[in-house]
Amino acid sequence: MNVSPIYDRVERKLDEQRNRELFRTTRPFKSSDEIDLSTNSYLALHANADVIAMAKTLINDNIHGNLASRLIAETSGLYSTIESEIASWEKTESSLLFTSGYAANVGVIQALCTKDTEIYCDRLNHASIYDGIALSGAKLVRYKHCDMTDLEQKLAVSENKERLIITDTIFSMDGDRAPLENIAELAKKYNCMVMIDEAHATGIFGRTASGLAEECGVEDSIDIRIGTLSKAIGGQGGYFAGSTRLRDYFVNFSRSFIYSTGLAHSSLAYSLAAIRYIRRNLSVGRNLIDRAEAFRHKINKTGISTLTSTTQIIPCLTETKARALHLSAFLSERGIYAPAIRPPTVPDGSARIRISYHAGLTEENEKFIIEQLSAWKKSHG
Ligand SMILES: Cc1ncc(COP(=O)(O)O)c(C=O)c1O
Repeated sequence: MNVSPIYDRVERKLDEQRNRELFRTTRPFKSSDEIDLSTNSYLALHANADVIAMAKTLINDNIHGNLASRLIAETSGLYSTIESEIASWEKTESSLLFTSGYAANVGVIQALCTKDTEIYCDRLNHASIYDGIALSGAKLVRYKHCDMTDLEQKLAVSENKERLIITDTIFSMDGDRAPLENIAELAKKYNCMVMIDEAHATGIFGRTASGLAEECGVEDSIDIRIGTLSKAIGGQGGYFAGSTRLRDYFVNFSRSFIYSTGLAHSSLAYSLAAIRYIRRNLSVGRNLIDRAEAFRHKINKTGISTLTSTTQIIPCLTETKARALHLSAFLSERGIYAPAIRPPTVPDGSARIRISYHAGLTEENEKFIIEQLSAWKKSHG
């Protein structure tokens, strides 16, 4: 049998990954009493009895998938309900669901941008944004993380007509916030379109918990809002919220929308229930942020840096990959799961463990976590 040289490359790349302490594995399901600091279910709605009861009514025994791409057929009956509720929540004309936040970012950017477009992209934006840019063929202009002077300098020297600024609103690994007011001002001054990714803000920030754009009062300056159903909502899927004209355009030109089966009915039912719960219980996001802030202060008191986090995402900086793995293992031996995050997910020299602060943590859990972080810092810091 011929052995393709592709296998040689596969072996070589895997060896490289192991030698650089970057080898990744999927984590088997472990039903235990472990304290989970890895979840993106920030509001713990996946375990909320009211949400589960509401979801069961909406599922109505239909656990099947959508059974075709949405342009061929919609079999759920919940798509238009959830899309109109998301549009009403986001106060936009329309919304469009994708099968994940990843698919939403890739599909929207690929459809909208061409080689004639310049995309101004925060260095720390999510990988799905970079993948969408690569697929679109647009010119990538990376600006320093949240650095508005750098962004303006780059905009000022460009003569390109088609320009789009893209930023995460809450950065997934640093837990800091994009300066949306300044971005909106620069977009106006330099006639740019703006796209934001609210993945980690949806359901938590803003008066009606629709995201950071609402909290900053800049919704009207944003052309494209991307949200996920996979983080605070605890479900699966991603969405665009904005004008009907753009929705029509994405339905016609977003390849990740057109060539992929729609979300399962059961998944839509769960997400709809969770969104309705959040909209009726607006204090849950605010409470989470207040509790996360107090927790972060306690971590800082142990001497561990949490970088520039001001949200529920709390990095604990270890700098080296080896120390990140060590801290993660140290916690794991004590019943706490906090994943090590290493390059290329974060820049070299900024390895860390990432703590996802969430509503499922008890005071007792918090006390125990702080004690363990403090013990690690004293013995290995
Ligand atoms: C900022 C950001 N955008 C998009 C995504 C992708 O969302 P999903 O997991 O729904 O594909 C993530 C998930 O990690 C994210 O952190």
